[in-house]
Amino acid sequence: MHSFHYRNGVLHCEDADLEALAAQHGTPLYVYSAATIRDHYRRLDQALHGIDHLICYAVKANSNPAVLRLLAQEGAGFDIVSGGELHLVRAAGGEAGKCTFAGVGKTKAEIAYALEHGVHSFNVESEAELEAISEVAKETGRVAPFAVRVNPDVGAGGHKFITTGKSENKFGIGLERVEQVYADAARLGGLRPVGVQMHIGSQITEAGPFALAVERMLPLVQRLKAAYDLEFFSIGGGIGIMYQSSLASGDNEWWHRRDVGAQPALTLEGYAAAVAPLLRGLGVRILLEPGRLLVGNAGVLLTRVLYRKTTPAKRFVIVDAGMNDLIRPALYSSYHEIVPVHQRAADAMRESADVVGPVCESGDFFAQARELPVTQSGELLALMSAGAYGFVMASNYNTRPHPAEVLVSGAQAAVVRERQTMDDLTRGTHLPAWL
Ligand code: LLP
Repeated sequence: MHSFHYRNGVLHCEDADLEALAAQHGTPLYVYSAATIRDHYRRLDQALHGIDHLICYAVKANSNPAVLRLLAQEGAGFDIVSGGELHLVRAAGGEAGKCTFAGVGKTKAEIAYALEHGVHSFNVESEAELEAISEVAKETGRVAPFAVRVNPDVGAGGHKFITTGKSENKFGIGLERVEQVYADAARLGGLRPVGVQMHIGSQITEAGPFALAVERMLPLVQRLKAAYDLEFFSIGGGIGIMYQSSLASGDNEWWHRRDVGAQPALTLEGYAAAVAPLLRGLGVRILLEPGRLLVGNAGVLLTRVLYRKTTPAKRFVIVDAGMNDLIRPALYSSYHEIVPVHQRAADAMRESADVVGPVCESGDFFAQARELPVTQSGELLALMSAGAYGFVMASNYNTRPHPAEVLVSGAQAAVVRERQTMDDLTRGTHLPAWL
C-alpha cells in the first residue's frame, strides 16, 4: 500500500496536506508516511508467520533516525554497511545485537566498533576480510560471530549497477569456495560461525530469482548447519516495488492492480509464498534484509516548478529539486511517477515535457518526454516513490543545501531533519592562514 491520495483535490500523505507542508517547510522537501512503513513491515512479518525469522531493515535505503526508531519499535533488526549506520541505529534506539554488518570494505576501525557494541553478526565477503575480523577480535579479546555471504550466481534486478548475485560482481564468495572458508575460520581464531547469507540484487520484480537462489543454497545451508550448528540463513533483500502507478489519473488503488505500467507486480505476499515453503523445516532462523520494500513507496519528494522553457526541440519544466536531491533518474534512468499536488480533472490539458532540475548537468532530469498535465511556475509537484535511495544518496553538488525531511503519522507531521543552512555549507571548512 501507500498513503498518498487526493483529498478535496489536494495530494495528502495520510491526513497531512502536502501543499500546506510545502508552504510551511519549503521545497524541495522529502515527506514520509509512518503508516506505510509500518504496514509494509507488518505485512512482511505476517506473511512469514510460522517461520522463525528476523527482518533486518537495510539502513542504506533510508537512514533517517526517525525511520530507524519507528522500525526498531516494530521489532526490526538492521542490516548495516558502515560504522556510521551502526552509530545511527544506536542513536535511534535500535539494538546493536540485532544488526548484521555487511559490505565488501569494512575497515578495522569499523570492525572494532561493531565488536565493541556486540553486533549480531558480520556478513563476510572475502577471505581477506575474514582475516581482518579475526585479527581485530583476537586483539580485543572478543569472538566475532560471522556468516559468509555466498554469491549464488543468479542474475536478477533492474539495473546493471544494482545486480549483485552474479559471479562477475564484487559481492560474496562463490558457492564452490564457501565451505573451505568456514574451515579456514576455525584455524584463524577469534571467530564463531553463526550463519550463512546471500543477496542477489535490488528492485527484483518477480519471485522466480529469489526461489531459484534459495534452492541453490539449500544443500549448502544443510551441510553447514550439520557441521557448525549454524543459527541462521539470511536470504538478503531486493524485493522490488511499483514505481509506475496510475495516481496521476486519480486512481488511489494502484498498488494492488496488476495491469498498470510495464512492471509485473511482485507483492510481498507473493514473495513470501515463493520462498517460505523452501525455508520451512530448515531448522535455522531466517533473516531478511529488505530496504526499498519497506520505505520506497512511503516517501515523496515535493518540488516547485520554477520556470517553463521551450526550445525548438523540447519543452522543459524546470523545478527546484535537482539530481543532487534525488539521483536515481540520472544514475539508473529510473522511473519516478510525477504528479501535481493539486489534482487535475481527467480532461485537463496535457503535454510532453522534460522535468529538469537547476544543476548544471544535462543528466539533471527527473523525467524525459513525459506526458504530464500542463503545470505553471509556482505549482507543486510530487516525485513519487522517493522514500528509498532518495535523501540517503543526496549530495551538496552545485553547493545546494540538503532538503528537509518530514515524517507524517495521521494528521501529525514532524520535521525529522532540518534543511541545511548556508552556515552548514561552510561548516568544517578552513581557510589556511597562509592564503
Ligand atoms: N542486502 C544487501 C547485501 C544489499 O546490498 C542491499 C542493497 C540490500 C540488502 C537492500 O536491498 P533492497 O531490499 O533495498 O533492494 N541505490 C540503488 C539500490 C542499491 C541497492 C544496494 N544494495 C537504487 O536506488 O535503486
